[in-house]
Amino acid sequence: MNIRVELTKTPKPKPQDESKLGFGDIFTDHMFIMNYTEGKGWYDARIVPYAPLSLDPAAMILHYGQEVFEGMKAYRTKEGHIQLFRPEQNFKRLNVSNERLCIPAIDENVALEGLKELIKVDQDWVPHQVGTSLYIRPFIIATDPHLGVRASHEYLFIIICSPVGAYYKEGLNPVKIYVETNYVRAVKGGTGFAKTGGNYANGLKAQDEAKKQQYSQVLWLDGIERKYVEEVGAMNIFFKIDGKIITPSLLGSILPGITRMSSIELLKSWGYEVEERRIPIQEVADAYKAGKLEEVFGTGTAAVISPVGHLKWGDLVMDINNNEIGPVSQRLYDEMTGIQWGILPDTHNWIVRVL
Ligand code: PLP
Ligand code: COI
Repeated sequence: MNIRVELTKTPKPKPQDESKLGFGDIFTDHMFIMNYTEGKGWYDARIVPYAPLSLDPAAMILHYGQEVFEGMKAYRTKEGHIQLFRPEQNFKRLNVSNERLCIPAIDENVALEGLKELIKVDQDWVPHQVGTSLYIRPFIIATDPHLGVRASHEYLFIIICSPVGAYYKEGLNPVKIYVETNYVRAVKGGTGFAKTGGNYANGLKAQDEAKKQQYSQVLWLDGIERKYVEEVGAMNIFFKIDGKIITPSLLGSILPGITRMSSIELLKSWGYEVEERRIPIQEVADAYKAGKLEEVFGTGTAAVISPVGHLKWGDLVMDINNNEIGPVSQRLYDEMTGIQWGILPDTHNWIVRVL
């Protein structure tokens, strides 16, 4: 596919102090766009200056939330290369989300080529400091101006990029999380496994209440029995109980995280037993009381590997590993970021170099 490139005439100043990047507030000079029209397919792949979109007020995304997105990162190595971590998995998952939201599939190769071109154009925006990266947000929105409820006939596929630091202000320090017993995120048969805005809009109320109580996020339970552990707002969850690593299985209500999948592969290659299964929250509490809850950590692109130091369920407060990062979480973090930043060899063939 031919990608047209229109460069900005007014480049923005780049952030001077990379230690203050935060997450998701600064955007690069360009974006990738492609249109879809029924009968014509996806067309007009282009890289254009980053700018506001012009949308019809009746655009279906604004009314019925028909949209999907992805989250991935580009990393600068100390040799000056720029590389992506398993990007083909993100575009594959985008198409899984598309299918669930009745959005036409994209060509995953075209998306990856478009992304690489965009990163080349905006390469100076990939930050240098340890712990920073270029967060990449591909997304698709329904643009058909129509008020009846049906799938749109027109879409925009867009990729924007944002230089970022840590997602949680705690960085690698353990986060505080509580088990949500009032609200639910998803149920099997719903959209829990898809990366679509509605899942996050639905989670805001619980997240807001957690923030008010000085918690980072909530740990969701299954929406039917309110008994089994699901995931956290922006990450999958792992428990180390009595030497074994356990994480919720993919039954349709949680996001199949790429960091989750990669962590399982790494842990197994190190000889750990990893169980993917339903985990009653009662089992976690019992393990804690028996002194066998050794580590709890979340995995995600934005969150990387995020230790949980304090987990509250009703009246029970579980202080995990003295509120310090545990050895398995630390090893996973070191290995994962080592591969991502090109410090360690890419033993699993996960890296795609852009430059
Ligand atoms: N779960 C949710 C709800 C998420 O938003 C994310 C972030 O993308 C994850 C899990 C982790 O997925 P990944 O490792 O692919 O970033
Ligand atoms: C990610 O980890 O990429 C996410 O999408 C999490 C969040 C920023 C929504």
